[in-house]
Amino acid sequence: MLIRKTADIPASEVTPKHWYVNRRKFIAGASALGAAALVSGYDLMSEPEHAFGGTAIPGIQKSNLSTTEKETPYKDVTTYNNYYEFGTDKSEPAEQAKNFRTRPWTVTIDGLVAKPKTLDIDAIMKLAAPEERIYRHRCVEGWSIVVPWIGFSLSTLLKQVEPLGKAKYVKFTTLGDGKQMPGLRPGILDWPYREGLRLDEAMQRLTMITFGLYGELLPNQNGAQLRLTVPWKYGFKSGKSIVKITFTDKQPDTAWNTAAPNEYGFYSNVNPNVDHPRWSQGTERRLGEFSKRKTLMFNGYDEVASLYSGMDLKRNF
Ligand code: MTE
Repeated sequence: MLIRKTADIPASEVTPKHWYVNRRKFIAGASALGAAALVSGYDLMSEPEHAFGGTAIPGIQKSNLSTTEKETPYKDVTTYNNYYEFGTDKSEPAEQAKNFRTRPWTVTIDGLVAKPKTLDIDAIMKLAAPEERIYRHRCVEGWSIVVPWIGFSLSTLLKQVEPLGKAKYVKFTTLGDGKQMPGLRPGILDWPYREGLRLDEAMQRLTMITFGLYGELLPNQNGAQLRLTVPWKYGFKSGKSIVKITFTDKQPDTAWNTAAPNEYGFYSNVNPNVDHPRWSQGTERRLGEFSKRKTLMFNGYDEVASLYSGMDLKRNF
């Protein structure tokens, strides 16, 4: 991103996941119920207004869209990330987002649609059974992670509002709350953080609306209550803390493309053949590993290639 951070973290200690899980509460009685009942019966409204990360999500179904690659340790995924609203240093989001209030949480879906709606997070989570999808995820800065995200295809949510034929793009607006977000200062980005996808990208089955990881609700630093996960694009396309989704007929402005259009294109597909102006995109280092590996076109998600047939992906980087 704009602020250069070349120093990598040392490979952190690998703590078995069940050590974390055992410390967290499970929803009472969850195991006695079937998956469908769990989904519809899952109501967090009685929970306190923050610190939801760590609550187990019942009824999770394994997805056949998952990679079989080794998962990145939970600790790395939750303590080394970008979330500029909570600081530009990679260790800051885990610290500074601790008391971020994530309840109540609503998402407004509007623009070129027949039925605009504002939906509560509980209603969104009940739209489909939660799926665990183990995705590769690559940051534009050269590190990558393999994460069991929990959520479902964004298309399930988008269909609720009946998009009009004129709609060509989807814009995502995230929360910009200066009282709660210490990083929301001028001169870093034009806030709130905004992202966008072409409509066919947004409806592609891999594009995921995400509310959990490793079987639990998202920790605040990873984007609670709701974020996007688009595995074939650089990580910054996956906006965290989404509060608004707007259908448009024009390519929406996005936070990074506005900040540095020559460095961060609208498409931002993972592409080892198009270097960032300041560094190579040919290789990546998986968090928790020492040596680098080759970066794959579309981050290895070849099924999306047809979305771009006939497009010059060097020009449309
Ligand atoms: N979303 C918001 N709202 N603010 C951010 O600064 N950073 C992006 C993305 N989503 C960012 C954001 C970037 S650059 C990356 S690499 C991923 O979040 C990293 O977070 P993750 O490891 O939890 O996916």
